[in-house]
Formats: sequence, structure tokens, C-alpha cells
Amino acid sequence: MSLPVDAASASDSQNEAVSPYALQPVLHEPSAGDQWWRRAVIYQIYPRSFKDSTGSGMGDLAGITAELPRIATLGVDAIWLSPFFPSPQKDAGYDVSDYRGVDPLFGTMDDAKTLISTAKSFGIRIIIDIVPNHCSNEHALFKAALAAEPGSAERAMFHFADGSGEGGNTPPNNWFSLFGGSGWTRVPAADGTPGQYYFHLFDATQPDFNWRNPAVQEEFEKTLRFWLDAGAGGFRIDVAHAMFKKHGMPNWGGAPDGTPRPGFPFAEAPMFGQPELHQVFARWREICEEYPGEPVLCSEANVRPLTRLADWVAPGQMHQSFNFDYLRTLWDRDALAGVIGDSLEAFDTVDAPTTWVLSNHDVSRHATRFGLDGVALDLGDGIGPRDPQPDTTLGLARARAATVFMLGLPGGAYLYQGEELGLGDHTTLEDRYRQDPTFLRSNGERTGRDGCRVPIPWVHDAPAYGFSPTGDTWLPQPGNWAAFSRDLQDDDPASTLNLYRKALALRSELGLGLGSLAFFANPGLPEVLAIRNSDTIIVLNLSGAPVPLPAGDPLLFSDANGAKLAAMGMLGANAAAWLRATDG
Ligand code: GLC
Repeated sequence: MSLPVDAASASDSQNEAVSPYALQPVLHEPSAGDQWWRRAVIYQIYPRSFKDSTGSGMGDLAGITAELPRIATLGVDAIWLSPFFPSPQKDAGYDVSDYRGVDPLFGTMDDAKTLISTAKSFGIRIIIDIVPNHCSNEHALFKAALAAEPGSAERAMFHFADGSGEGGNTPPNNWFSLFGGSGWTRVPAADGTPGQYYFHLFDATQPDFNWRNPAVQEEFEKTLRFWLDAGAGGFRIDVAHAMFKKHGMPNWGGAPDGTPRPGFPFAEAPMFGQPELHQVFARWREICEEYPGEPVLCSEANVRPLTRLADWVAPGQMHQSFNFDYLRTLWDRDALAGVIGDSLEAFDTVDAPTTWVLSNHDVSRHATRFGLDGVALDLGDGIGPRDPQPDTTLGLARARAATVFMLGLPGGAYLYQGEELGLGDHTTLEDRYRQDPTFLRSNGERTGRDGCRVPIPWVHDAPAYGFSPTGDTWLPQPGNWAAFSRDLQDDDPASTLNLYRKALALRSELGLGLGSLAFFANPGLPEVLAIRNSDTIIVLNLSGAPVPLPAGDPLLFSDANGAKLAAMGMLGANAAAWLRATDG
């Protein structure tokens, strides 16, 4: 998408006094629907790193419940909880051994129910993370499959296959694991000789389910109902794009390590985006609609391009899908304008909201990414002590501006715990602490995601910054996090925490989530992105110097030096502001 520029440049050259901003036609009109999920701001909690109530060094459900009053002051509509189910924790809980229970690490089923009902009393829904692509190798179904014969009903719940080549010693096909290495692991036969292989898109401890088997589909319908009966406000669907594999599981045409080759884009790999997915999503939507309170389905779908992702949120499918193209966008005005325009255009064709997101537990936090100029980090690859280190001051300034800008966009948004404190990654975490299977399976070649998963700081002068009463933490925290602690930010009007609170309150008051969008053309300001959402003008200055704001429109709020510079009609470097359109 490119923005028309001629209107403003023509008038500029004729008349110096004319505003450098020229409003373009409206690109996105509000939907006729006003359901909560169209505008929801959802806060992701990664339970092991949020708040530890027992002193084990691992966050837990009771810790989250105890902090709900503080989460409520942020002004979010829902919490997405990353997995807390029984699990051997080989992939931080994304290896589930029982979808209808609670891991003792995190508490009990009663704790989960208390969390759901207490959140409800604050008007906050709890969204459960469902992991349908794979389970743990310690799940009863997989153990039964291992104990059963090739060709049995038990094995048909997963992807078991004989090897190819001499003696069946070569994996059945060339599919890779996203964590590195082959996607196939061989198991012994009943007589102890090498037997069949099973497929795992992630770690060998995470066998993929065979979604073509109706028994698998029934299992997950039961799980959805279990959590809906317990009061869940919906589901985030893990790796939704990979649930079905192409019939016959043919070799994929990319490189064996999973990297794409010309003609074989990653998104076209035979384990992604198969059309049969959509029948399952339609069924899940029907199930959600049987329950009160409009439970939501949000897909983690690495599907490209955005026009294809729109099929995932078409009527009768999921309600939301994370906009990873937005998350991947660098600090670049044209790229940002492009992805926003393309997203709204694509999602408007199916009357679905766009779900903006900047950080989560799988990527370097945006305060870190934006401190590394021009570096496009791969999803799933963090930063370690041997990598170039981010400029943390620049990263934080840009992160604050990026969030203020994002919260001005129409649609829903996801926030990741700790970003409201301005946290970046732990970028110097020593290898000996790393637990991410990405690091372990690649023999340390890939840094992995531990850096963005570090327990968050609550109290500046307490052990573990108040994360746990004993000072224990499952990953060490950086030494300079005192200043980011919640207690110091609570009453500081200039803190990142209060910036988030202000932006969320104003966003809700102004109805921006259900608003419209038009771009401004401002060719004289090539590093400024300005939009109008209903009666609010939102300006993001991506440059390193102050720029003029649109003239005559009063400032609603800004993330940096707001009032002082705004009095001069200016917006500071790496900053964002919201203004009230005077004709609004
Ligand atoms: C998703 C999760 C990630 C996990 C992977 C495998 O991408 O967000 O954390 O490792 O699925 O379950």
C-alpha cells in the first residue's frame, strides 16, 4: 500500500502557512457490530513469570489472583493466560499432558476457578491457551500410542509412520522441527528393535496430533467445553495454522532445515494452512456461541499474506487472529503505514477487527527490538550476550511511542505482561540459565526466547524485585530492573505504567477501538505517520528530531515532553501524541 502524497505537496509549495498534514479519504469505516472482542485490549500473562505467591521461584495462579486489583487499574478487558496445565515443562507448558487440569507448579483447579471468578468481578475475562497441534509425550494418549501396535487406533491419534530407505532407517519425509533438526523421532518396536517414527513440529517431547482423526476433534471439543463450563472467556489457539497436515504428508520443497527456497515460501509448507482447518474452527465457533458472554477465539496463525489470514476471521470462523505482520514491522514509517493499510483492507472484507500486537512470550520485547536499528529479528530468536546490544534508552522511547500509536488504531490489541513497565529483554542472560528448547535443540546456535520471559519486577528494593517472597526466580532477572519496578511507577505521572493507564482510559472514552481510519499525507515529514481515527488525530514521530504537529488541534496527550513541546506546536523525537480534531 502506498499513500497518495500529491495533495499536500502541491499546496505546500503554494502557501507556507498551510499545514504539512493533508487528510486522505477514509480507508476504514467502523463495523456495524459492536461486540466486545472487536475493540478489546487483552493482557497476556505468562504465569511462570508474573507473580510467585509460594516462594518456589515459579509464578502461580494465586499470585495472579492476588494482583488482579492492580491489573484492573490498567483498564484491560481480558487476560490471556499462557498454559498452566499439567506438563513436564519441556516447552514452558506448551507441552500439555492433561488439558483439563492444573499443574501443581501453578496451583490447583480451585485456584483456576478462583482466578476466573475474581477476574470476572473486576469485569475481566480469562482467555485460556489451548494447544491443539501437539501434546506432551507424557500425555496418556501418547503413552497409549507408544504401547500400541503400528496401525492401531491409539497410534492413529498421532502421525506415526514407517521410515523410508533401507531398513526404514530414514525418516518418512523431509519435514523439519521449528525448534531445529528433523521433525521425526523413532521409537522402539515391541521387540526392542527400531520401530516407527512420529512427527513433531516442535520438540521431540511434543508429538503432533492427527487432526484428520475425528477422535482427536472430539477430545478438543470436550476440552473447550470443560473450560467454558468453568467460566472461561475464550481461547487463544496455539499454532492453529499447523493442525492439519497435507494428505499423504509429501516432502516439502524447501530446505531440510525448514528454510524456504524460491518457489517454496514458508507459508506454503505442507504442514501449514490446510483448508480442512476451517471446518474445525467453524465447529469451535458454534460451541463458543452456545455459551453466554461471547467467548472469543483468537488464533496464533503464522499465515501470509494478510488477505489469506482474513479467511481465518471470516464470519463463522475465529473472532480474532494476531497480526504478526504488524509485530514484525521495523521502525519505519512507510512499512508501518503499509501494514496498517493492508491489514484494515484485508480484514474489512470479512468484517473482522484487526488485532494489533507488539510483544509476546515468543519474540524479543518491542523495547528491545526498537533499540536495535534496522535489525529484523526472527520470531523465536532472542538476543544473547554475544549479540549486538540494543540502545535501551532509544528502545524505551520508541516502545512507548509505538504503544501509544497502536492503542489509537481501530480494532483489538494485545499487551504482554511487563511491557506496561517498559521492560525490554534480559539480553545478557548467560547460556547456563537458558531453558528454551530452541536454544537446546540448536546446540546454542539460536538464542531462543528466555530473554523475554524473565520474571517481572514489582518492588524495587525487595529480593527478586518482589516477584517471589524468597527471592527465587526460575530465570535470573537483570541487575538494573529496580527502576522498572511497579511500586516506583505507580504514582509517578511520567512512568510507562501511567502512560499505559492514560492511553487505555482515553482509548475507551473516545471509542477508538470501534473507530475509523484515514491517513494523513505529509510528504514534508517523511518520518511521521499521522492518522485520524474518528475525531482523534494520532501522530507518531519516528525521527530523531522534533516535528510540527497538525496546527490548531488541541493535544489530548503525548508520551514524551508532551505539554511543553505541544505548547510550541511540536512533537518530540521518537514520540507519539493524540489530538482532538477541531472539526470533530
Ligand atoms: C506457540 C507458542 C510457543 C510454543 C509453540 C509450541 O508458538 O506461543 O511458545 O513454543 O507454540 O507449542
